[in-house]
Amino acid sequence: MTTPPDVHRARSRTFKPRRRRLSPTREAALERLLPQLGLEVIGPTLDPVEVFGRQAPLVIEIGCGAGEAALAMASADPSTDLIACDVHTPGIARLLTEIDRLGLTNLRVVHGDALDFAARLRPHSLDEVRIFFPDPWPKPRQRQRRLVRTDLLETIIGLMAVGGHLRIATDVDDYAEQIVEVCGAEPRLEGGPVPRPQERPITRFELKGLEAGRTVTDFSYRVRGDRD
Ligand SMILES: C[S@@+](CC[C@H](N)C(=O)[O-])C[C@H]1O[C@@H](n2cnc3c(N)ncnc32)[C@H](O)[C@@H]1O
Repeated sequence: MTTPPDVHRARSRTFKPRRRRLSPTREAALERLLPQLGLEVIGPTLDPVEVFGRQAPLVIEIGCGAGEAALAMASADPSTDLIACDVHTPGIARLLTEIDRLGLTNLRVVHGDALDFAARLRPHSLDEVRIFFPDPWPKPRQRQRRLVRTDLLETIIGLMAVGGHLRIATDVDDYAEQIVEVCGAEPRLEGGPVPRPQERPITRFELKGLEAGRTVTDFSYRVRGDRD
């Protein structure tokens, strides 16, 4: 089993715990579907072939919310296997319901902290990592909670294959600056801001930002081939 780096033990949370009661329907969906479609946060090293029943490019989405992007992108690209992670229980319940309804076999769910789950992944095993609209943590003293920061980026890159794709989107201007700074300082990455990718759907969260007049920036980075 992969030993989690120290950062996993010492880090502060990248999400705000939100407590909201589930409707009885969502509660029932969670109970029925999580054992079928969910992956344990803590456990032995994951074997994606065992999980998905095939060898395919492996993608993880950190902070999938209600799974709108995960569902759209997994449906549009059945040749890729996607693991969508979030701590937000109502979102996970909705996502599970939709995976079941659509009969998707290339999408699995982690209900918990993606950074804890990261300890189950083999180094260099991910072909793509998606972080769409990470929690903004706007106050200066909250910046150490942001997902895209130097120590967590180290962890994420360590899990990614050479040539692997890191996609990020944010509607917070100074988060976009932080992404440019942190990813730009990482010699194993190349890339930067890109036009909005067609395949990334507009989520309800994104729509609210657009309606409030915020600007969305998408980023695309590749893990360089000349890494150590
Ligand atoms: C602002 S929401 C955006 C959700 C979604 N990506 C969208 O565009 O609608 C950010 C989400 O990231 C989740 N999140 C933050 N840190 C996380 C972590 N370490 N593991 C799993 N989920 C996380 C939060 O719970 C929240 O649902």
